Amino acid sequence: YGSSSHKTDYVFKVVLIGDSAVGKSQILSRFSRNEFSLDSKATIGVEFQTRTMLIQNKSVKAQIWDTAGQERYRAVTSAYYRGAVGAMLVYDITKRQTFDHIPRWLEELRAHADKNIVIILIGNKTDLEDQRAVWTEDAKEFAEKEGLFFLETSALEATYVEEAFVTVLTEIF
Ligand code: GTP
Ligand code: MG
Repeated sequence: YGSSSHKTDYVFKVVLIGDSAVGKSQILSRFSRNEFSLDSKATIGVEFQTRTMLIQNKSVKAQIWDTAGQERYRAVTSAYYRGAVGAMLVYDITKRQTFDHIPRWLEELRAHADKNIVIILIGNKTDLEDQRAVWTEDAKEFAEKEGLFFLETSALEATYVEEAFVTVLTEIF
């Protein structure tokens, strides 16, 4: 984790989107600092973190942008998406509504982002399997239909968070 002593070969901007409380900020915190907090506060405006990774022997600096899922706290949409080459569309596997809203987020993304943007659908909170409300197969089918990558993660347990970022960064590359 952390910074690399290599020179940076590429800087890739990746945006996180999805309903409030699905875990966007904790996914980012897990990826960038290997930290997780259960009493995470709702994001206001825009924040970002970076992490440099070696991808196919090149030093890639991922600049991950995180914004509020709540409408009233969101920053200007077009500025958020400007220059983004990757997007992570997050829902909570225990909250059906957060998955049902994914088409709306996808619509916003397609309206504002570059048409070649690499998108991954992420079902977060797999540690709460006993409260699951969205079947893996349903999400997988939706992702295939829309041409998105798909993974289920747990920011709490640190499962598949790294893989989700590597999937996006490798595909951009
Ligand atoms: P907004 O900033 O309002 O858009 O929300 P967000 O999507 O950034 O959610 P955030 O990361 O703040 O997480 C919301 C709540 O879910 C917090 O209490 C987190 O601790 C919790 N949470 C996030 N990821 C996980 C996870 O993988 N498992 C569990 N059990 N809880 C999680
Ligand atoms: Mg947040």
